[in-house]
Amino acid sequence: MHHADLAFAVIGGTGVYRIAELEDVESHLPETRYGFPSGPVRVGRIAGKRVAFLARHGEAHGVPPHRINYRANLVALQMVGATRVLALNTVGGITERFGPTVLACPDQLIDYTWGRISTLCEEPGTDVLHVDFGDPYSPAWRGQVVAAAQRAGVAMVDGGCYGATQGPRLETKAEIARMRRDGCDLVGMTGMPEAGLARELGLDYACLGIVANWAAGCGDAAEITMAEVLANVETASSGIPPLLRALLGGFGA
Ligand code: HPA
Repeated sequence: MHHADLAFAVIGGTGVYRIAELEDVESHLPETRYGFPSGPVRVGRIAGKRVAFLARHGEAHGVPPHRINYRANLVALQMVGATRVLALNTVGGITERFGPTVLACPDQLIDYTWGRISTLCEEPGTDVLHVDFGDPYSPAWRGQVVAAAQRAGVAMVDGGCYGATQGPRLETKAEIARMRRDGCDLVGMTGMPEAGLARELGLDYACLGIVANWAAGCGDAAEITMAEVLANVETASSGIPPLLRALLGGFGA
């Protein structure tokens, strides 16, 4: 089940439940020390290079953000051989460069979630880790993602601050106004604890934010609908296969 030649793993968010380009797919459902991941880990090839895919909410989007077993998902990816994770996160845009259908690779985050299992140090008797998290996304791996987008000619905003909210409801206008004052550019429900756990596990981790809508009070829309979210994710997702091919080009066979 461990693939020594795995280039990286991709975690798909809302609206991204599979990678159609994946060839020679093997599926694994590993039971981790934290239980089962949200769904099968699909390991296959793109452009001859091996890559893993996991749908964060399950392939039928059955698991809401606050109920995701983030620990099992990341450990399952490690069990198939992943050392690097590219996390696709559907987000709302707060500041002007981050409008709907933009792809963004944030370099900071603020965690507003609560009540989630957010560390490997949860169980009594586990070693307490105080991992450095000043740069929550692995700078070198992030740099590779941004460079690959440039090579592929895929437009991407380099940098920005991801605010992770609890959900599953969307935010109030006042909550978004506060997040803007705090310095957030993007808002989503799944960026944490995933990024923090990845750091505890020693995984290189980068986020690809797919902007689906203007966050509450930021655009002209009277309300945010799932139809709008899914349509914009589909539009923005056309950049993902060329980005993945360019990113995989940087890895050996
Ligand atoms: N807020 C939080 N999460 C989201 C949003 C939003 O506006 N859009 C997509 N995911």
